[in-house]
Amino acid sequence: MNVLLTRRIPSSVLSKLDAFHDVERYDGPSPIPEDELRRRIADKHALICLLTENVSAETLAVAPDLKIVANIAVGYDNIDVAAARGRGIVVTNTPDVLTEATAEFTWTLILAAARRLGEGERLLRRGEWRGWALDFMLGTELRGKQLGIIGRGRIGRAVAAKAPAFGMKAVFARHDLSLDELLVTSDVISIHVPGGDSTRHLIDRKRLARMKRSAILVNTSRGSVIDEEALAWAMQEHLIAAAALDVYEREPNVYAPLLAMENVVLAPHLGSATRETRTAMAELAVENVLAVLAGQPPKTPV
Ligand code: DGY
Repeated sequence: MNVLLTRRIPSSVLSKLDAFHDVERYDGPSPIPEDELRRRIADKHALICLLTENVSAETLAVAPDLKIVANIAVGYDNIDVAAARGRGIVVTNTPDVLTEATAEFTWTLILAAARRLGEGERLLRRGEWRGWALDFMLGTELRGKQLGIIGRGRIGRAVAAKAPAFGMKAVFARHDLSLDELLVTSDVISIHVPGGDSTRHLIDRKRLARMKRSAILVNTSRGSVIDEEALAWAMQEHLIAAAALDVYEREPNVYAPLLAMENVVLAPHLGSATRETRTAMAELAVENVLAVLAGQPPKTPV
């Protein structure tokens, strides 16, 4: 059967698919444009794609033979799942295999923001470091502080599990505390909810204004969860102390005012970006495709 792959995957994983199916790979320098995706998907039975592809109802409509869309991501807000279901197309994602990598990266960001790592590194590279001083670039200690986690899924729980190592107490919104109480009382707030309409701008001006002035806001989920314009406003007004972002509303673009702020750590969507995890994600997507094209249930349907 015909499979469309929108990105390069490790050759050891590709060979498992190649052995059974005809694989066409898009090799462009940036994500496949939507019109190109529609042209190439028309005669395919399976699509393996990334979160950078918008798999809309219109795109699905041009592929009458399509049986599965396998997203190489745990999030799937880039796919019109309802439209896929309506056409009997299975949608799969890659949960579990990226949980630890994303939790580790969340802690990377928490620590970087608390200890001003980006700011310090930039200063040093500019040649402006004048040497050790008692009061130079002081950050915030995590020990004894509260980590408020919004989203109690796999990644949120994995982030919480590492909190005791840093002497922090983790609390979950809507479980341990109401969202409002969590915003008011937490020293670090980390977001782990899925993207999509139900969470769009969950963090807006009103909620940013509820946070402590010393709070650090961290987002490794989806950019759409934070209103970036509101975040920039809150930072300018010193309503919170720092932010650390791995995801953005309009990737790969970052809301320009945030780029100019020393106390915002900015990463280019690296949450799951380890060799081990990215290979495991591609493997899982391929396993899902092999199963569905063989008439079997997928391992990880959404
Ligand atoms: C996902 O899998 O949804 C992540 O955002 C990828 O890093």
